[in-house]
Amino acid sequence: MRVTGTGHASMRIDTAAGSILCDPWVNPAYFASWFPFPDNSQLDWESLGQVDYLYVSHLHRDHFDAAHLRDFVAKSATVLLPEFPTSEMEDELRELGFTKFLRAPNEQVVELDGGLKIMIQALTSPTDGPIGDSSLWVEYDGVRLLNQNDARPTDLGVFAELGHVHAHFLQFSGAIWYPMVYELPAAAKTAFGKQKRERQFDRTWRYIDDLKASHVFPIAGPPCFLDDALWQFNDIHGDEGNIFPDQSVFLAEYAKVGGDNGVVLLPGSVAEITTTGCTTTHPVPVAEFFAGKVAHLEEMRERKRPIIEAEKASWRHPEIDVLKEMKRRIEPLLEESVYLAKGVGGPVRFDLVGYDGESVESIVVDFPEKQVRPYADEKVRYRFRTERALVEHLLYVDEVDWVNSLFLSCRFSAARIGQYNEFVYAFFKCLSRERMQYAEGWYDEHERNVDAEDITIGDWVVQRRCPHLKADLSRFGIVEGNQLTCQLHGWKFDLASGRCLTSVGHQIRAHRADAPVTAD
Ligand code: FES
Repeated sequence: MRVTGTGHASMRIDTAAGSILCDPWVNPAYFASWFPFPDNSQLDWESLGQVDYLYVSHLHRDHFDAAHLRDFVAKSATVLLPEFPTSEMEDELRELGFTKFLRAPNEQVVELDGGLKIMIQALTSPTDGPIGDSSLWVEYDGVRLLNQNDARPTDLGVFAELGHVHAHFLQFSGAIWYPMVYELPAAAKTAFGKQKRERQFDRTWRYIDDLKASHVFPIAGPPCFLDDALWQFNDIHGDEGNIFPDQSVFLAEYAKVGGDNGVVLLPGSVAEITTTGCTTTHPVPVAEFFAGKVAHLEEMRERKRPIIEAEKASWRHPEIDVLKEMKRRIEPLLEESVYLAKGVGGPVRFDLVGYDGESVESIVVDFPEKQVRPYADEKVRYRFRTERALVEHLLYVDEVDWVNSLFLSCRFSAARIGQYNEFVYAFFKCLSRERMQYAEGWYDEHERNVDAEDITIGDWVVQRRCPHLKADLSRFGIVEGNQLTCQLHGWKFDLASGRCLTSVGHQIRAHRADAPVTAD
């Protein structure tokens, strides 16, 4: 099996029974803030795009690059489609000209022509990607590969059961706006960023340890930020709180925990993977490339400047009355929302900075009152500050997912009172009826489905499944004193009260193992 690195989470897999192109991403994403790192725009995409199969793991714009799919990927390719709850991905691909789809039944091995086997695991909670993320397992001639990209299944057992995996591709770096955009003192921001960076690596080690593949390929990040306004997010400034470590940092950190089977693919690198080994050729030596990282980014920044400027020029739509349009689009969804609205539980304020860089229009999405209205000097749960032009653009293109556009752009700042609230972001990624209904149904089902099994960890008896996304706490739970941390996403719980310390809601069932048993 041959794997060609094509940048970020993208790769082309070649076997004698056919080729699969995964997640090709070249054009900037999220308001021109993210670019693939290392630069992959100069690869021979005309020929890379001539494939038998296309696999797009999910709709995040650093995986689903509509313009690139339209212009460079053969429309004769059969799309290997994850079993997602909504038809959005298929609809978008059909619009781009794809006509052949293989809807892969979830977690079932499918044999394609010539003995090529695939299996796709689709994750479908409202917090998985843009309502859906997925991983692709491939087997040909005894060689097995897992492209986990940035999916976060609770465990990898379903893949491990299919036999030893030779190549495990997974995310290790950050892909979020936290903590950088939060209005916090610099020291606190660094401390939170450091924790986040460590947690990302811990999660990666856990997945690697789960699968015990012969070779581990760090992919799906980091992006690079080429706009001057975002340049500080690149991990080139010696900031230990930066959440975007690159592949060379991965290798160094992996070595510290005893990992010696990491393989970095640059765009254009080729790995030949067999059941007994992996040989790799690179366009330039990997260490040399990373030694020149700053120069690479600076050169890229100059080359991409016109693209960023052209995008920026397209965002303003002064004819749009933002308050009126937000009211028209968001109020019907607030009316439909029971769980998300209750989960947010308070007003969320948007401060929109005008074209002059100074004037500010403050709009409140009032979840308890189910209204969108001007800010009325009240306490709010979250406050976001961004350019008015960005929200105009979201309304202009009728964007249904503000996470997959505004929030991932990092072109905003935020403040909040109290804990992180996942419902705020879940709501703003569900600005369509279809998505809202799905998310509401999901929470409804989970609210009623109280998982009854308990386990003992140290001095505590706790419910087996994490109240966040059901990770098995017998594997992911760590208890220190009265506090339980679920290592999958790092959420913390106070066991004495059952309170979740990371997000609103999400109570955990727990009692001390030596507590007297009462009949009730
Ligand atoms: S499943 Fe996310 S923190 Fe436990």
